[in-house]
Amino acid sequence: MYPRVIGVISGKGGVGKTTTVLNLSAALNEMNKNVVAIDADVKMSGLALQLGMYYFPVTLNDVLKDIEDLYRAVYIHSSGLRVIPASICLEDCNISNLKKILNHTSMQNNMIIVDGPPGLEKNALSVMESCKRILVVTEPELPAITDVMKIVNLCREREVKLIGVVINKYRKGREQITKEEIESTLQVPIIGVIPEDKNVKKSVFRKKPIVLAKPYSPASVAYKKIAARLVGEKYEEENIIKRLVGRF
Ligand SMILES: Nc1ncnc2c1ncn2[C@@H]1O[C@H](COP(=O)(O)OP(=O)(O)O)[C@@H](O)[C@H]1O
Ligand SMILES: [Mg+2]
Repeated sequence: MYPRVIGVISGKGGVGKTTTVLNLSAALNEMNKNVVAIDADVKMSGLALQLGMYYFPVTLNDVLKDIEDLYRAVYIHSSGLRVIPASICLEDCNISNLKKILNHTSMQNNMIIVDGPPGLEKNALSVMESCKRILVVTEPELPAITDVMKIVNLCREREVKLIGVVINKYRKGREQITKEEIESTLQVPIIGVIPEDKNVKKSVFRKKPIVLAKPYSPASVAYKKIAARLVGEKYEEENIIKRLVGRF
């Protein structure tokens, strides 16, 4: 059985957590996995905005505070992906009872991908402990890797399963740590390497995850491979004719 709930966290901000959540969710949704993406980075929320969803009167914050029912905070993107956004107000929100949402009866048949906050603050720990299975996103740079090391240790202490590390914004030829060096330093599996890809930013303008906006770009293929790996399926390379037709 593959994990039903996956938390996505990182040592520092800006490494690509939200991008990873959106693209893995969209890729898994395309594989008919019935996905809900939750924005639990309540301080720097922006998951729904990146999908062009700007109007959400009910948010995760309201459900956590028992002000609203969960179903009212679920919004559907044009791709069919369901999203629970966080409030865009800078309110202080404690997500220690996120588990209540993850285990809600209406969520039992869904795969849930949670966009967590960076760092090792209280809310990041809540995401780790509520999700029980996590992916850590990092850039291939020494300071970022050092932060991941701290997360790895915390996972071990708290019996949280670290499914793997996603190395994002990888650039060939740049002076950076290699995948093998990161793997041997952290002693955890690298589940995928996402290249730096200019189409990622372009897709934000198009309000679509890159796996939907440019399905054959290098980052999309890398995300689709991780998605397949997460659910124990084989990623099928689409043939060249389909790929060319897809361009038009
Ligand atoms: N693989 C990539 N290639 C190029 N740009 C990327 C890639 N992944 C993320 N980005 C860009 O990096 C910035 C930070 O990404 P984001 O997902 O918001 O990070 P986080 O959620 O960890 O703060 C965004 O502008 C995003 O478009
Ligand atoms: Mg983010």
